Amino acid sequence: MNLDLFDSLEPNDRRQQQLGQHAFVLRGFAISHMTELLSALESIWQAAPFRHLTTPGGLRMSVALTNCDQLGWTSDRNGYRYTATDPDSGHPWPAIPAPLLHLAQTAAAQAGFDDFAPDACLVNRYEPGTKLSMHQDKNEQDFKAPIVSVSLGIPALFLFGGHARTDKAERVPLFHGDVVVWGGADRLRYHGVLPLKEARHPLLGRQRINFTFRKAG
Ligand code: SIN
Ligand code: FE2
Repeated sequence: MNLDLFDSLEPNDRRQQQLGQHAFVLRGFAISHMTELLSALESIWQAAPFRHLTTPGGLRMSVALTNCDQLGWTSDRNGYRYTATDPDSGHPWPAIPAPLLHLAQTAAAQAGFDDFAPDACLVNRYEPGTKLSMHQDKNEQDFKAPIVSVSLGIPALFLFGGHARTDKAERVPLFHGDVVVWGGADRLRYHGVLPLKEARHPLLGRQRINFTFRKAG
């Protein structure tokens, strides 16, 4: 991990925003590869359709989810876990499209995490009104690797909290093409998404897509 990379940043650099010692917003980082990203997205959901999972407590999640790469995150009455196959089809999750892997690795490196080798990519779909409650990403085996999150479509307010659920959270607006990377000292910080406002994006319509790349196994 190269921790000195951001020392030279201007405090007001609008393209990079620091959320923590090892947490950064890379504004518009995904924009230049949008055509490949959108076709990668379509190939994923055609092979593994979006679905609304049930939490261990029996609630239907308002976020719709699918996955690509070797491991996919899933949830049901028995708990949260990663699986090598899609429980709906019994088939392996779709392979990660090369442009997605490249984006995740270059964003991680930009934030100081060299050699990021994700094996899981969650794809979340939000519509206006959808939210994601505060949580930690802690079902992964390897907390040394960062989380890389890529947002497409309509905007959302991302909440970036502390190490306790009740810590005050920073509200970070995320727009089409923004990437957030958090790892190191910030890897287990609570985070969530406020209910999305009604909006329409020229490419994606009334939805927000979020990819999160992780090293899960
Ligand atoms: C997540 O925490 O898994 C997703 C975050 C987001 O949608 O921005
Ligand atoms: Fe998360």
